[in-house]
Amino acid sequence: MAEVAKLELNGKTYELPVVVGTEGQIGLDISRFYKESGAVMLDDGYGNTASCKSAITYIDGDKGILRYRGIPIEQLAEKSTFVETAWLVIWGRLPTPEEAAHFSEQLTLNAAIHEDLRHHYEGFPTGAPPMAILSAMINALSCYHGDYLSIDEESKLEAAAARLISQVRTLAAASYRKSIGAPMNYPRRNFKYCENFLHMMFSNPYDDYIPDPVVARALNLFLILHADHEQNCSTSTVRMVASSGANLFTSCASGVSALWGPLHGGANVAVIEMLKHIGESGMRPKEFLEKVKNKENHIRLMGFGHRVYKNFDPRSKILRQAANDVLAKLHKNDELLDIAQELSELALRDDYFVERKLYPNVDFYSGTLLRAIGIPVDMFTVLFAIGRIPGWIAHWRENHSNPHSKINRPRQIYIGKTENDYVPRDKR
Ligand code: CMC
Repeated sequence: MAEVAKLELNGKTYELPVVVGTEGQIGLDISRFYKESGAVMLDDGYGNTASCKSAITYIDGDKGILRYRGIPIEQLAEKSTFVETAWLVIWGRLPTPEEAAHFSEQLTLNAAIHEDLRHHYEGFPTGAPPMAILSAMINALSCYHGDYLSIDEESKLEAAAARLISQVRTLAAASYRKSIGAPMNYPRRNFKYCENFLHMMFSNPYDDYIPDPVVARALNLFLILHADHEQNCSTSTVRMVASSGANLFTSCASGVSALWGPLHGGANVAVIEMLKHIGESGMRPKEFLEKVKNKENHIRLMGFGHRVYKNFDPRSKILRQAANDVLAKLHKNDELLDIAQELSELALRDDYFVERKLYPNVDFYSGTLLRAIGIPVDMFTVLFAIGRIPGWIAHWRENHSNPHSKINRPRQIYIGKTENDYVPRDKR
């Protein structure tokens, strides 16, 4: 492999060092190019920009490979739990039994939010979107955990991470209870991570929710599959905010805001709305695909396509199988899953999608799995956020512990007006 690439501009040759990743990925280091040439690189939407070196998650979008810390997602989906996967993603290896027990105890001890935080919910109207509440409430953690606003040692980060991973689920369940005007539930010591979340979502003062192991396992799986996905929009947002030195809580709150959009985490809601629209309008999936292909009103086949995967998203394969299995175990049918399967089969044979390498992504089947286990649609993107918290923490840690990290500050190519004079108001 050459050590430098050469770039010619205005008759001068510049040398760009070649950087090779552990999986053979090639990059060109352009960090000195501006200083040497005065020119910037233009890359709308960062489709070809590596914003950092990272050791957390590996994706091969052409082959449909996803690994956290080197471990294939298929193995984690089959053998791990969300709590163990969270530890792996943040700390870089699987925990020993003692480390796992310690972390689990920390999650249990930190599950309850400060009692005063509960009063914040009174400021939100009933019916407020749970993602808006979640982002605000994660930010509010900064006001209650002043000890963690500056983290200078790993043990402090471990405590802050346990607090955030544990409390995000309490805050999320409380957001849902608020959104439907129901009383909030306290976490219980005897429940594991997913069971506790389901209890806080669905128990009522007069009626305890007894978590079904099939439902809890499906939720575990969903969260494992969402734990990290390298430099996506929300994670890049977290790293961008973290690069200014912002604390862990506020950096992750910004990730929730980025995740909310329909082209990112909000796609899991958009998929269900699309499937419902097709079902209720009586339209055939084939007719809907024609509209997509004709770009009528800019509609897209939601849950299809990905910036990185130009092959099957491995998470969508696992989720499709899981949705089918869970529905069978719970003796349920979902006509939306039938519509999704028909749409997918047609799209995968259609030139429009084949030529553009558009395959089902994680959001195509995740909504049907969440519906099967009784999660309300408004909470789908919130569930994505709970799953992604370990990834955001891991990226925050990677950024924070890198002695060479700099404040993120992209450049631009200015295309506005050239200099012109201020016109007094009476002359305009
Ligand atoms: N349906 C129809 N056409 C599509 C779709 C789609 N879902 N996705 C991309 N295209 C077309 C697009 O119109 C363009 O066509 P043309 O070459 O004729 O202009 C071509 O494919 C390339 O699209 P792009 O927008 O340049 O691709 P991108 O890499 O910028 O966008 C994406 C990636 C995920 C935003 C996009 O595929 C999309 O909008 N998908 C639907 C929304 C969705 O499912 N989002 C979840 C993404 S995965 C989870 C996550 O990251 O949160």
